[in-house]
Amino acid sequence: MKYNKTDKKDNTFNCWVCSNEIEPFMSFGKQPIANNFLLEKDFDNEYFFEMETAFCPNCYSFQLKNQPSPEQMFNENYAFFSGTSKLMADHFKKFSSMVLSFIESDKDPFVVEIGSNDGIMLTNFAKKNIKHLGIDPSENVVNVSKEKGINAVVDFFDEEVAKKTVEKYGKASAFIAANVMCHIPYINSIVDGIDILMKDDGVVIFEDPYLGEVVKKTTYDQIYDEHTFLFSAHSIKEIFARKGFELIDLIPQETHGGSMRYILAKKGARTVSKNVSEILNLEQDQGLTSPETFKIFKNNCEEYKRKLLSTLEEIRSSGKSIAGYAATSKSTTIINYCGITNNHIDCIYDTTPIKQGKFSPGSHIPIKPHSDFSQNYPDYALLFGYNHSKEIFAKEKDFVAQGGKWITYVPDIKII
Ligand code: SAM
Ligand code: TMP
Ligand code: ZN
Repeated sequence: MKYNKTDKKDNTFNCWVCSNEIEPFMSFGKQPIANNFLLEKDFDNEYFFEMETAFCPNCYSFQLKNQPSPEQMFNENYAFFSGTSKLMADHFKKFSSMVLSFIESDKDPFVVEIGSNDGIMLTNFAKKNIKHLGIDPSENVVNVSKEKGINAVVDFFDEEVAKKTVEKYGKASAFIAANVMCHIPYINSIVDGIDILMKDDGVVIFEDPYLGEVVKKTTYDQIYDEHTFLFSAHSIKEIFARKGFELIDLIPQETHGGSMRYILAKKGARTVSKNVSEILNLEQDQGLTSPETFKIFKNNCEEYKRKLLSTLEEIRSSGKSIAGYAATSKSTTIINYCGITNNHIDCIYDTTPIKQGKFSPGSHIPIKPHSDFSQNYPDYALLFGYNHSKEIFAKEKDFVAQGGKWITYVPDIKII
């Protein structure tokens, strides 16, 4: 895996994509590993890094300057299990149908997914007996996928793994990924790997949190250690152009607070939808190609931080209790950037067993099982899982019925 961290004396660094020398436009301060839910005995050894963001005007990539090494984040203790959300399972079922519609004329279809996690997507291909391979470096989640009958390996995808895959299985009809491409600093090596792996008429379909939504709604919580990039159509176009790929479609998604599905193929191999030029134009109008946009974004983040803290402090000073709801990876940035501590919220309720009984990264707020929530309703619940709000509001009607209130912060800070 080609992962070369830059370490220069001034604050500049080389863009992860085009090597252009760039400088961060803001810092979110010291941040921990967002998925590192830990025990008290590990507090003293917790890893922190300065989380700074930069925009490259040459290739339009919004990126982190520093982050922990991939091995520190993705290993046998990875805490994110995709299968915890029913809505996401439905989402990936529909995603898989779209993939199949692109490869229906292929007599020997082969689907490769990176970041296959617990098999939430590939299970749809396995059930149809379609040749598939999941590649994911986090052993614990891969083992769960194998128990579901999915063919998967524990590895970091790159061009070397692509070569091995072609030798063993032949070339792929579809390369798919969700919420993983944006995690990979050595993104050029991924594109090299895709180029090696794909059949000439193969299709690349992946989705990630969308920069356009983050800027529009100031959802800076999408910025955390794992998210090396927040992509736009402009940045993806540049990243893939080097190997002769072009965007053939772009489909906005509601998942993760606003994502974009990117569909690419070798130049000229497939018809290009008019969505591509339309969305590229919208991005231009929104300023996603201009460094000025990110100066405004920085001011908006600072304003949100002030507002959220004062809301929590006002509630606490009136003697009411607040608990966090859903210990999402995204909440790590909110909590640590805003300085939310155990003095503001008593605990965070979450459904993931591996997080329960531990403490939140950085601020060390206790994580309690979701089943305890209804035993001990707080006066207010701070909705860290806002991207799952439909599902959560539907199942927590009793909380509201007995007088509980939600604090939400996307798209604005509200008490409902
Ligand atoms: N695709 C799932 C979803 O959308 O719910 C899981 C997304 S999870 C946030 C990111 C996954 O990507 C993790 O399981 C992680 O281990 C994996 N990952 C990180 N770097 C990778 C790489 N270079 N190749 C393959 N998988 C990778
Ligand atoms: P994500 O937003 O990063 O996908 O994180 C999902 C987290 O939210 C995961 O730890 C499980 C938790 N969660 C709940 O606690 N209750 C819920 O109803 C849902 C949908 C998620
Ligand atoms: Zn660049």
